[in-house]
Amino acid sequence: MKGVVLAGGLGTRLRPLTSITNKHLLPVYDQPMIFYPLQKLAEAGIRDVMLVTGGNSAGDFLRLLGDGSGFGFRTLNYAYQVREGGIAEAIGLTRTFIGGDQFVVILGDNILEDPLEDKVRAFKEQGEGARILLKEVDNPSDYGVAELDGNRVVSIEEKPKRPRSSYAVIGVYMYDGFVFDVIDGLEPSARGELEVTDINNTYLRRGLLRADILQGWWADSGCSIDGLLQAGIRARQLRSEGR
Ligand code: DAU
Repeated sequence: MKGVVLAGGLGTRLRPLTSITNKHLLPVYDQPMIFYPLQKLAEAGIRDVMLVTGGNSAGDFLRLLGDGSGFGFRTLNYAYQVREGGIAEAIGLTRTFIGGDQFVVILGDNILEDPLEDKVRAFKEQGEGARILLKEVDNPSDYGVAELDGNRVVSIEEKPKRPRSSYAVIGVYMYDGFVFDVIDGLEPSARGELEVTDINNTYLRRGLLRADILQGWWADSGCSIDGLLQAGIRARQLRSEGR
């Protein structure tokens, strides 16, 4: 199982903090934001990781993370996304690195309390297809939203005005090598991006998508300045509880 962390994008919602740096290099309590997803992969036993980034600050990730041995990785690889073409486009850049293996993607601004180990194990046992994680939230319209029938996902909509549930699809996705064929067939959305929700709906239509529901705390720390502040406060609380 390989790991991918996405740290591209312009971070416009966090300006002026992101005017001269990449949002994933900003502090969340006592660590750069990008440390949190990398630590989650390391804790789940993943040893080979690719970081996708872009923009003028791309070189700063190399200076900060180096060869990844500080996280216990065997290899830390880098890919450069030329423009903000969407999460699915960024995943597409990892094709050669993944080479047909199963892998876990984490969005670089997503911070979660629950360990990923059991979810990764469940995906290994699943063997093929895709696996996503859901979290009940107060503001589902800000996210991809899963419509559920019991525990089964029926549809996923990206940032719907009238959400069909309060379950957000969080930024942790597990895929098999088929995802690259799916990405090849995607068309840009109205906002000009290749959407991860379109990947997940393709797996869903083929009956190959499974979902787990997260119990612990989760934050999209890059969604707003207040979201960034709240993530820092929560990270401090968890640290003081030894978690
Ligand atoms: O946080 C979970 C949400 O993330 C999901 O519920 C949504 O379905 C999904 O589309 C995404 O929504 P956001 O609007 O929060 O995505 P954002 O543009 O903020 O990008 C999320 C991360 O992906 C961010 O850490 C940077 C990275 N990214 C994004 C784009 C558009 C890239 O690496 N390249 C890109 O081109």
